[in-house]
Amino acid sequence: MDQEQQALIEEAEKLAEGAEDSKALYDVKMRYLGRGGKVPSLMQRMKEIAQELRPAFGKQVNALREKLEELFAAREARMKEKEMAKRLEEEAVDVTMPGKKRAEGTLHPVTRVKSELIDIFSGMGFEVFEGPEVETDHYNFTALNTPADHPARDMQDTFYVGEKLLLRTQTSAGQIRLMEKKKPPIKMLSPGRVFRSDDDATHSPMFHQMEGLVVDKGITLCDLKGMLDEFARTMFAETAKTRLRPSYFPFTEPSVEVDVSCYVCGGHGCPLCKGTGWIEVLGAGMVNRHVLENCGVDPDVYSGFAFGMGIERIAMLKYGLGNIKLLTENDVRFLGQFRD
Ligand code: DAH
Repeated sequence: MDQEQQALIEEAEKLAEGAEDSKALYDVKMRYLGRGGKVPSLMQRMKEIAQELRPAFGKQVNALREKLEELFAAREARMKEKEMAKRLEEEAVDVTMPGKKRAEGTLHPVTRVKSELIDIFSGMGFEVFEGPEVETDHYNFTALNTPADHPARDMQDTFYVGEKLLLRTQTSAGQIRLMEKKKPPIKMLSPGRVFRSDDDATHSPMFHQMEGLVVDKGITLCDLKGMLDEFARTMFAETAKTRLRPSYFPFTEPSVEVDVSCYVCGGHGCPLCKGTGWIEVLGAGMVNRHVLENCGVDPDVYSGFAFGMGIERIAMLKYGLGNIKLLTENDVRFLGQFRD
């Protein structure tokens, strides 16, 4: 190897050492070995050399190329190693650092009670049917045996949105819609929002109800009582009992108010049951024959019972809440307490 080539190697070595990254090193390498680079140009000189010296010259240039290739390969390897070490350092993860804790949401108590009710009643063969929130006067009142001048309309302060259009005051409207569509046997559960112009510690202008309807041949008040007992045992306490008190609703005859034996004191009397041993939970009754007739169901062949309960009321009883507003304010300190 002559001096010129030795100098070329030294120069390449210096430049390769000075290259700061793979890209710069590649550029240096191309300057020597790439097309038009220094080594290929040396080969070009072959023509100018005497014939007999050409093999020796070719051998020399090839040796030079190999040397340079080795040189660059070694430099490349060192550079890759360094770059990898740097990357590992930069991307290092401290596995001993505490993880990020995500705040977990909870189901709203009204949603929980609603799902629980659906669970209980679908276990008894009820199907869920949801009616519209904006109802006609007909479905909300008239077809439920509550004509225009009926005093029972005053029991429910209604929000009207048109002359004959209103925000439903009760999920009972769903009874009519379903009976128009489906012939008995019927076992329907209808949850939903209802609206009334009413606002105090235990009433809210918007709340939720759960309606139930059973229509078939030979349905009696005993079937209602049996089903309510099962409901009270599952919802409140294994030992809970129910009692029926006479009441009035236009769409049921007879109508009853349903009480559950106090699950806190077991019926002896305590602040929750106001010393009576009983807690009022829902309204129910045997479907009024006029209601069946209004839906084209023959009351001489079929009979049925219906019930309606306020979901917020059940939630307040179950969780011991003193004010219904807790359920609409959505304070996370309150909602966060309802975890499984
Ligand atoms: N709709 C009644 C209310 O809002 C509740 C009710 C009572 C529903 C008796 C019924 C029933 O289906 O049979 O107060």
